[in-house]
Amino acid sequence: MLSVVVLVVALISQTAARYTADWKSLDSRPLPSWYDQARVGIFVHWGVYSVPGFGSEWFWWHWQGQRPPDPKYVNFMLKNYPPGFTYPEFAPQFRAQFFNPREWADIFKSSGAKYVVLTAKHHEGFTNWGSPNSWNWNSVDTGPRRDLVGELGEAVRNRSIHFGLYNSLYEWFHPLYLKDKKNGFKTQEFVMHKLLPELYNMVVRYKPDLIWSDGDWEAPDIYWNSTVFLSWLYNESPVKDKVVTNDRWGAGCACKHGGYYNCEDKFTPGQVPKHKWEKCTSIDTLSWGHRKNMKLSELMDLPTIIKDLIRTVSYGGNYLLNVGPTPEGMIPPVFEERLRGLGAWLKVNGEAIYSSKPWRLQNENTTSSIWYTCKGNSVYAIMTTKPPKASVQLLEPITKATTTVTLLGNPKPLPWSPVNPNAGLTVLLPDLPSIPGMAWTLKLDNIQ
Ligand SMILES: *[C@@H]1O[C@H](CO)[C@@H](O)[C@H](O)[C@H]1NC(C)=O
Ligand SMILES: *[C@@H]1O[C@H](CO)[C@@H](O)[C@H](O)[C@H]1NC(C)=O
Ligand SMILES: *[C@@H]1O[C@H](CO)[C@@H](O)[C@H](O)[C@H]1NC(C)=O
Repeated sequence: MLSVVVLVVALISQTAARYTADWKSLDSRPLPSWYDQARVGIFVHWGVYSVPGFGSEWFWWHWQGQRPPDPKYVNFMLKNYPPGFTYPEFAPQFRAQFFNPREWADIFKSSGAKYVVLTAKHHEGFTNWGSPNSWNWNSVDTGPRRDLVGELGEAVRNRSIHFGLYNSLYEWFHPLYLKDKKNGFKTQEFVMHKLLPELYNMVVRYKPDLIWSDGDWEAPDIYWNSTVFLSWLYNESPVKDKVVTNDRWGAGCACKHGGYYNCEDKFTPGQVPKHKWEKCTSIDTLSWGHRKNMKLSELMDLPTIIKDLIRTVSYGGNYLLNVGPTPEGMIPPVFEERLRGLGAWLKVNGEAIYSSKPWRLQNENTTSSIWYTCKGNSVYAIMTTKPPKASVQLLEPITKATTTVTLLGNPKPLPWSPVNPNAGLTVLLPDLPSIPGMAWTLKLDNIQ
């Protein structure tokens, strides 16, 4: 009997889907289920750009890449740095001397996030690990002199959080990339000698649960060898069964090909997209990387974050919320406070978020703004404004005599009465606790 089972298992694994290096095949791969269940993730933009900490993580490009350069950045450098100072000279000041991966992982855990995505390499090309293909432009040879990717990965996984890596395909100033670009991307020197060896190495070394690809838009997927890489990733890599990817694999791929869709940064659809998607957004509304002149008024407050999360999840999306740590390795306390607030809200209301599905209707605005999610036989009506009265009307749910309503965080069933004989209900609310997230969840059972 046992040997029959072993044989069957062996046969199944042998005949399991093999993906060929084309989008039709790659796009047919089911998304590993952990991702849809996770719903909430933390994005971390950390690199040499955190040292000037001015403008955004696009500092180098605005200062010396774009034509003409942005005077704001040129003047910042003239005022604050000696003449002739170059961007790579910022690297030794990226010290990470207070970086404690366990403290970061504790903060992420307390936020309720189920996955974390760290920039392994942003468009500046600096790797937060000792990449042999990024000589003297990585966090082990210079700056922190530590394996930031490896250290954070270990601490995050230790807390049962999935660990993902952001990787930029293009590098603004890499000489081989500039050469290929000049050749109209008809040559692939950068891809063959830098990008791919590094990317394969990164996957084998760190076994990421998620690869958040970016910087794809200047060249087609055929230049990046994206489909060849992904077929290896899905068929043979050490993460073939669990790895999740996004959709930035070449000009025109976003919102069309890959794993889940990001479409654009801060994508905010007005209905449920047909394909699994993720909204990435940043607590600092002006930057993903650390800014030294960040002001409170430029940040999302907690109720804004929670409303954004609820809307995203109602539309079937995952929510990836970004923080930019300092070059010293600290997560600014104001971000930490937001993350802990998010976690406190999820502790009570997470039942309506994790592993939920979009309901047949996403929202209604009656006496309060209501967003719906569902799971199993329950429907969740999340109120993102405090109802003006001690009752709230929901017009969409179709009740039965057996319908029950509770407020998450409060075990007592709430009294309700029908609005019409065949639809809607008025729920009598208890005193709503004044919680920092300012959103309350009604759980409805036995409704349609
Ligand atoms: C996390 O680390 C602690 C202390 O080193 C260890 O005891 C524990 O087993 C680890 N947990 C996981 C899930 O790896
Ligand atoms: C890149 O793609 C070409 C085919 O388009 C293939 O011959 C080559 O082996 C690939 N290289 C890598 C490193 O994936
Ligand atoms: C309710 O209000 C939200 C936010 O203003 C809006 O996006 C949505 O379309 C409205 N829904 C309905 C059903 O009117």
